[in-house]
Amino acid sequence: MTARLILGKEVSESIYSELRERIGKLKAEGIVPGLAVVLVGEDPASQVYVRMKGKKCEELGMHSVTIVLPESTTEAELLAKVNELNADDSIHGFLVQLPLPKHINEDTIINAIDPKKDADCFHPENVGRMLIGDPSFLPATPAGVQQMLIRSGVETSGKHVVVVGRSNIVGKPMAAMMVQKGKGADSTVTVVHSRTQNLPEITRQADILIVAIGKARFITKDMVKEGAVVIDVGTNRVPDPAAKNGSRLVGDVDFENVKEIASAITPVPGGVGPMTICMLMANAVKATECATRLR
Ligand code: GUN
Repeated sequence: MTARLILGKEVSESIYSELRERIGKLKAEGIVPGLAVVLVGEDPASQVYVRMKGKKCEELGMHSVTIVLPESTTEAELLAKVNELNADDSIHGFLVQLPLPKHINEDTIINAIDPKKDADCFHPENVGRMLIGDPSFLPATPAGVQQMLIRSGVETSGKHVVVVGRSNIVGKPMAAMMVQKGKGADSTVTVVHSRTQNLPEITRQADILIVAIGKARFITKDMVKEGAVVIDVGTNRVPDPAAKNGSRLVGDVDFENVKEIASAITPVPGGVGPMTICMLMANAVKATECATRLR
């Protein structure tokens, strides 16, 4: 068996067409959804992500603001910028790109973001609302994974979902979302991580395996049940002498071999990747709708 591919580009396009319609309705009311992205320092990967977020915003006809601050920015200066964005009526959602320089406490910054403008859904109030099943926003990457499952017709109700990884950005919220009541959820969820004993024994029980552990090709064919749906959230740069820049991107799953046993799988790149920005845009549009009480 060779797995069916679940492609983020295809799934995100259907969401973008819905977002364009909602943005059109807001604009007809004279409201342009505004998203701001704050980047501190010169981390090359962050620079790429921030550029992509700004570009997508403009493509959708939203008001896009990118704020680049030097590495030497103090915590107080960044807090002042966050407060300025909290008070700016033209900005409906914003985020501060992580990681931040070591001298700035990330939690302090996240806690200062107005929860109504928290496009990442990283603020503890929004994380709590998501956990109790009454979300304002959903965290972008797990929400993207859930939409991929829903829109590619993967049944989740009653299925055993194994989440590999326990980060605050992906693993923990992913598990919390899949265990909720409702569409694209209602699953039985197990979380495994770097300290889990007999990890392959557990991953082999997954009907749906969601992998976000940050280790290149960590999930091998022998760790996957025949017919499982495999979602690979990993992006790892590995050396590749044949590549132009000497490296290439691989996921946390040994794609070439696992695709022989899975029923459906997401590639890297081209799988989950495009979904994160898409769901960020969805959060920004939702924040605008909520702020203007159109919904
Ligand atoms: N760094 C890596 N992923 C993310 C994300 O989704 N949001 C923010 N703010 N920073 C990140």
